[in-house]
Amino acid sequence: MRVWASILTVAICLTPAYSKINRKEVVQSFNPVRNASSNSTPVQVGNGNFAFGVDITGLQTFMPFGTLSSWGWHNFSLPIAPGQTSPADFTGLDWWTHGRLVNYDQSNPAEPLISNWMVQNPQRINLGRIGFWFGNETVTETDLSDKSQTLDLYSGTIVSQFKVSGSQVIVKTYVDPGSDSVAIQIESDLLKGGQLGVFFDYPYSDVNKFDAPFVGVWNATSQHSTSLQKSPKQAQITHNIDKTTYYTAIQWSGYALINGPSNSTHRYVLQPRGDSSLDLTVNFSRKSNQAGDDASLIAKSSADWWQDYWETGAFIDLTRSNNENATELQRRIILSQYLLAVNEAGQDPPQESGLVNNGWYGKFHLEMVVWHLMHWGRWGKWALLNRSMPGVYERFLPTSIQRAQYQGYTGARWGKMSDPSGRSAPGEINSLLIWQQPHPFYLAENEYRTFPTQNTLQRWDEILTQSAEFMVSFAWYNTSTGFYDLGPPMYPVSENTPPNATFNPTFELAYWRFGLTIAAQWKTRQHLPIPPSWLHVAQNLAPLPIINDTYPIYQDMPNMWTDATTVYDHPAMTRHLRPPTPNRGSQSNTSLWDFAHLFGWDFPMLAMNAARLGRPGKAVEYLLHAGFAFDDVGMPIGGPRVATPYFPASGSLLLAVAMMAGGWDGSEGARFPVGWKVDVEGFEPAL
Ligand SMILES: *[C@@H]1O[C@H](CO)[C@@H](O)[C@H](O)[C@H]1NC(C)=O
Ligand SMILES: *[C@@H]1O[C@H](CO)[C@@H](O)[C@H](O)[C@H]1NC(C)=O
Ligand SMILES: *[C@@H]1O[C@H](CO)[C@@H](O)[C@H](O)[C@H]1NC(C)=O
Ligand SMILES: *[C@@H]1O[C@H](CO)[C@@H](O)[C@H](O)[C@H]1NC(C)=O
Ligand SMILES: *[C@@H]1O[C@H](CO)[C@@H](O)[C@H](O)[C@H]1NC(C)=O
Ligand SMILES: *[C@@H]1O[C@H](CO)[C@@H](O)[C@H](O)[C@H]1NC(C)=O
Ligand SMILES: *[C@@H]1O[C@H](CO)[C@@H](O)[C@H](O)[C@H]1NC(C)=O
Ligand SMILES: *[C@@H]1O[C@H](CO)[C@@H](O)[C@H](O)[C@H]1NC(C)=O
Ligand SMILES: *[C@@H]1O[C@H](CO)[C@@H](O)[C@H](O)[C@H]1NC(C)=O
Ligand SMILES: *[C@@H]1O[C@H](CO)[C@@H](O)[C@H](O)[C@H]1NC(C)=O
Ligand SMILES: *[C@@H]1O[C@H](CO)[C@@H](O)[C@H](O)[C@H]1NC(C)=O
Ligand SMILES: *[C@@H]1O[C@H](CO)[C@@H](O)[C@H](O)[C@H]1NC(C)=O
Repeated sequence: MRVWASILTVAICLTPAYSKINRKEVVQSFNPVRNASSNSTPVQVGNGNFAFGVDITGLQTFMPFGTLSSWGWHNFSLPIAPGQTSPADFTGLDWWTHGRLVNYDQSNPAEPLISNWMVQNPQRINLGRIGFWFGNETVTETDLSDKSQTLDLYSGTIVSQFKVSGSQVIVKTYVDPGSDSVAIQIESDLLKGGQLGVFFDYPYSDVNKFDAPFVGVWNATSQHSTSLQKSPKQAQITHNIDKTTYYTAIQWSGYALINGPSNSTHRYVLQPRGDSSLDLTVNFSRKSNQAGDDASLIAKSSADWWQDYWETGAFIDLTRSNNENATELQRRIILSQYLLAVNEAGQDPPQESGLVNNGWYGKFHLEMVVWHLMHWGRWGKWALLNRSMPGVYERFLPTSIQRAQYQGYTGARWGKMSDPSGRSAPGEINSLLIWQQPHPFYLAENEYRTFPTQNTLQRWDEILTQSAEFMVSFAWYNTSTGFYDLGPPMYPVSENTPPNATFNPTFELAYWRFGLTIAAQWKTRQHLPIPPSWLHVAQNLAPLPIINDTYPIYQDMPNMWTDATTVYDHPAMTRHLRPPTPNRGSQSNTSLWDFAHLFGWDFPMLAMNAARLGRPGKAVEYLLHAGFAFDDVGMPIGGPRVATPYFPASGSLLLAVAMMAGGWDGSEGARFPVGWKVDVEGFEPAL
């Protein structure tokens, strides 16, 4: 199969119908243009670990959009109530689990303060705000005229222009691909006379689960401190926010003075004089840091990095189709590719809103990693996936083994809503969800298909072994059926069923079987023995449940397909990581499903299902569904149930498009609606 797939890929690349695409032209034809700030989403530059969101001025002058990073986190002080002073005091809750009490990390009503603290801490912080200083605090966006802003996707450059008091200002904004630095190049006669400067400001941390569109509290100025150290042409601002300390190193060209903070704020102002241009580099770091590359060097690194990004890996061009839907799909693809590289290519898995603003306190969810990250591999951009995978599993392995042991299982039980330390936040759903568990098999197997080497086998082996061990010990042998059951208690993907009654959910059963199959293959490929328990469980897992000839959410679910109020959340049983079970089609009866409740990755999941069923037109309909919207700069709109942006929408869109562009095992090749002209480069068939 492997050999056949790679021959086929080569054949696709060589076929004249797949001529070399002018990628630069396609990419730049979707450069976003704005003439006013949006009150919900910024225009961004970033490098996957760090991003800077701007308003119409190219900075954060009027709108305090985020400057977010992988490393910037903060803890509020611990509670001081007796018996609730440290995470070690948290005891969770015991639930009956197949005849024994198992302890779960769930908020305990007897220890509310420490339970809450562990949910809310740490939070991701907004590192700071950089904006224009006009020498007049009352200037607002309406005082500016001739505003225009273009994001050049191909070089990672935002060019913004406006007039203030009749004078032109031109600003270019970049982020260094290799460090957490913003580079800014400003041209304006106002700089000469000291009428235009740049301010820096710092917020305190927010306690909200969702901080959108802005992160941080700007008026709690007495709760944190800043200080300035300056020397000619550079300065460093130290920000202390409780136990978190970090530094802003600022470096500029020409003559300028930096002063502040003023009037019990944390606002500093850099005021140049003499020149009509100012180049500025602002480097955020956990370490005290003076030196920095100048802005023109960063501009060059940014252009080089983005050119390489667009010119390597897979690409799809639908622009020859001359069809409004193909154009809109192409727009979504290009803008998603840009935003995912800015927001979702870090050392840790991304949070749902990337580096734009905070959801779930800035934490990330391990069950979501495939939607956020697998597209990197499927689009041939493995180095970006490599930044977090499998490193994050390696890092979380010891605590995941502890979690399993503490609950009386073997292997590693992966957590859910996490911070970079790997601690999973308390919560009923958080502690009872299981679909994160087989993800390592999906990631590893995809990597092995592209890199079938000893190195791939070795770097995933321990992670897969421990994942499989837990899956085997979690499956419960039901003596009355002779099958291994999953749950109860548990939450399935849809998170809306009674956990003490939920067992054998369709998707999780299929995914468990898939994972254990890969686990065995992984051992065989290394000429290692397969533990007999793995085979026994894999071969005797309960069959996929069926109600009235369709897959329900879980076995014996009451009212499935008869009561619309039960079927509104993620329709995971339509998800096909592997070809559907023979004879059963791959359908559930989605005609009853409440589409108004669907959001984000539900639509690409349904699109992949439709594609597998041979209905590419339907697949495209899902990818352009009104409930699946992307704004003018490509930010995936959250909708009624989650905040904007909701990046699993973008990642899953690219996953679905990769499948439609490369086909899948046994059905290779691109499949789009009849009449579309589609050029693809570099896609391999999906699993
Ligand atoms: C600004 O953009 C809006 C929306 O694209 C457009 O309707 C309007 O004409 C533009 N205004 C100017 C002055 O370009
Ligand atoms: C927050 O506190 C936890 C528990 O004490 C600790 O492990 C973590 O490193 C802290 N994080 C930050 C950013 O201070
Ligand atoms: C599930 O059962 C446990 C007892 O094992 C109980 O404490 C818990 O409240 C039940 N949960 C729900 C949602 O009914
Ligand atoms: C500040 O800006 C406002 C609004 O543009 C203007 O009315 C006012 O005269 C300005 N004040 C000074 C001191 O320039
Ligand atoms: C800060 O602003 C918020 C919202 O405007 C307000 O509710 C709060 O009281 C203010 N806090 C202080 C310390 O001024
Ligand atoms: C400081 O506050 C005073 C009074 O509110 C105000 O007049 C002055 O402009 C402020 N100075 C700065 C530098 O913001
Ligand atoms: C920013 O600071 C980091 C850490 O000190 C350093 O490694 C990096 O080179 C700096 N980046 C630039 C562009 O100066
Ligand atoms: C991923 O990282 C590993 C080392 O951690 C390296 O061996 C491998 O070549 C990298 N793969 C890619 C595609 O960057
Ligand atoms: C054993 O399986 C049957 C059929 O799936 C199920 O109804 C029953 O609840 C299971 N037994 C236990 C104790 O979970
Ligand atoms: C199966 O479908 C029939 C006819 O629509 C319906 O009456 C019945 O309730 C369904 N059974 C289940 C278990 O949903
Ligand atoms: C699917 O559900 C709808 C609405 O309940 C029903 O009308 C239709 O007959 C069902 N289709 C199948 C194949 O069960
Ligand atoms: C675009 O998609 C919509 C919704 O599926 C459809 O109604 C319309 O006919 C399509 N337009 C074209 C040009 O195919």
